[in-house]
Amino acid sequence: MKIVGIAGSPRKNGATSRLLDITLKEIKALNAQVDVDRVDLVDMKITACTGCDACLKTDCPLDKDDDYPKIVAKLLQADGIIVASPVYFANVPGILKNFIDRSRRMKMNRNQLKNKWFGTIVASGLRNGGAETVSMLLATWALSQGMLPVSSMGNSVIENPLVITTLQKALKEFRKPTEEDDIGDKAAKRLAERMVELLGMTKPK
Ligand SMILES: Cc1cc2nc3c(=O)[nH]c(=O)nc-3n(C[C@H](O)[C@H](O)[C@H](O)COP(=O)(O)O)c2cc1C
Repeated sequence: MKIVGIAGSPRKNGATSRLLDITLKEIKALNAQVDVDRVDLVDMKITACTGCDACLKTDCPLDKDDDYPKIVAKLLQADGIIVASPVYFANVPGILKNFIDRSRRMKMNRNQLKNKWFGTIVASGLRNGGAETVSMLLATWALSQGMLPVSSMGNSVIENPLVITTLQKALKEFRKPTEEDDIGDKAAKRLAERMVELLGMTKPK
């Protein structure tokens, strides 16, 4: 069983990366047999889609000059995929949008990502700054690829099923991106539990 985490932030040591780390480490802690892989998009060269439509019939012509084929190879092997994104103007940052747009070839080539479990992790600056919107954008992308979006499920009264961390603690009080967030961190662990459970690697509680 393999799970691939995609770190979509241009900032390597920020809140997005921290939360993805929590989830991936927790997956390993729950079952050391799981092959956990992480791709930091900021380290990869991913050229923006030019809309040439070649992917409707053949392979993407941009593949020969960048790192996207390496990511595709990992995604095709994965049973579960987790995409972590910061909120940039209530959307994903450009590097992640390039990743999403280039994924069209997997959809057009007989829905190659179909039936893979999919999880989201989102980090925002402001408490109501668009994190839920970005979570939904990612889930919509996953649905369009035939993937199966998974929420983090904990105490149904006090734990929200979306994995979100927010720097804003109160109106004028912000945590550092590297600082713990009990709500977001717990949700990140819960996503790990759910992924492991759904992949049949532990018994459902
Ligand atoms: C270009 C840019 C746009 C941003 N737009 C938003 C926004 O719309 N809403 C919000 O809550 N935070 C916004 N932020 C703040 C980031 O979401 C926040 O700093 C988050 O922690 C970034 O993730 P990172 O720590 O992984 O880099 C923005 C930051 C940048 C750099």
